[in-house]
Amino acid sequence: MTKKRILSGMRATGTLHLGNYFGAAKGMVALQDDPNYKTFYMVADLHALTTPFNVEELRKNRHNVIADYLAIGLDPEKSTLFFQSMVPEHVELAYYFSTVVSVARMQHLPTFKEKVKQYPENVTMALLNYPVLMAADILVYQAELVPVGIDQEPHLEIAREIARKFNSQYGLSLPEPKRFQTSGEYVPSLTGEGKMSKSMPGSFIALTDDLETIKKKLAKVPTDSGKGKIKTITDTKKPGYQAKKRYIDSTTNQESKGVLALMTLVELFEGKEKRVKYEKAYESSGVRYGELKTYLAEVIYNEIKPIQEKKREILTQPGYIDEVIESGAKKARQVAGETVRMVRQAMGIAQLGINS
Ligand code: TRP
Repeated sequence: MTKKRILSGMRATGTLHLGNYFGAAKGMVALQDDPNYKTFYMVADLHALTTPFNVEELRKNRHNVIADYLAIGLDPEKSTLFFQSMVPEHVELAYYFSTVVSVARMQHLPTFKEKVKQYPENVTMALLNYPVLMAADILVYQAELVPVGIDQEPHLEIAREIARKFNSQYGLSLPEPKRFQTSGEYVPSLTGEGKMSKSMPGSFIALTDDLETIKKKLAKVPTDSGKGKIKTITDTKKPGYQAKKRYIDSTTNQESKGVLALMTLVELFEGKEKRVKYEKAYESSGVRYGELKTYLAEVIYNEIKPIQEKKREILTQPGYIDEVIESGAKKARQVAGETVRMVRQAMGIAQLGINS
């Protein structure tokens, strides 16, 4: 039996937070430990060049992502771990792919538009090409599943479109990659607005935070009187929908989004039953947020503490990460090289040779 291939990657920016942990990292570990799959996990260091960057920071950050990968339980014996830039086949395939993608399609992507707003001085070809390179990252391993956050769905759609076009134009059978969903799809921001995000200070709990820091961050989450009504909204029209809840404070009649963030975290760390317990209190005797926050801080810290310890241990072994990367890149290049050769053959450019 041939194993299905998995690819995922994280951009080399800053440290991981609970949003990345539930949205992607847990899924990456689960797939690695499933014998039906062969897993490739990279650090997207080339994608880090699509927005203004600093080489020294990039060096530190990409090293740090590998340390995080190892700390959360990715095992170089089971998963191929590498830097994207060490497998130049990604770039070559991205170039071939770009021949079937229209500029207009890329310009209309919400992720592109956001970056244009954020860095109006930096609207480059690399930025426009971001999703094409991502499609190449995935398809160069002919990966079928991609454990990644829900925000990446538009990019996966591009990868599927490219696979379809290449298959029909060149008689290939590239897979149309699907997203692998994990339970904590959407980890809300501590501010109560939007989701946890690296680019929003105060929105996230980092995997490296200590207990005091977590307590301080949770203390700032806006709450309410502790009593109110809960409304459940189900948007069944959306594929893969999750029920959304609104917590309406009984004194102000306003929605408490901070309370939603706290309840979601309770469920992610302690399970549904615990959340239901707090929700019952919300609708009857009232919730004491001071207690809930202290308890939640401890539960979160207990889960991430072993990850922090492991990371510290990894960072005390000089050269270990370099070895992991070097052997990972070698394995990755073998697979990637086969795909690129196959694509060049199918397109007919491999046969051009040097003569007329
Ligand atoms: N775009 C992804 C993100 O921002 C990172 C990424 C790059 C990626 N290439 C990938 C994720 C390939 C999955 C597969 O999170």
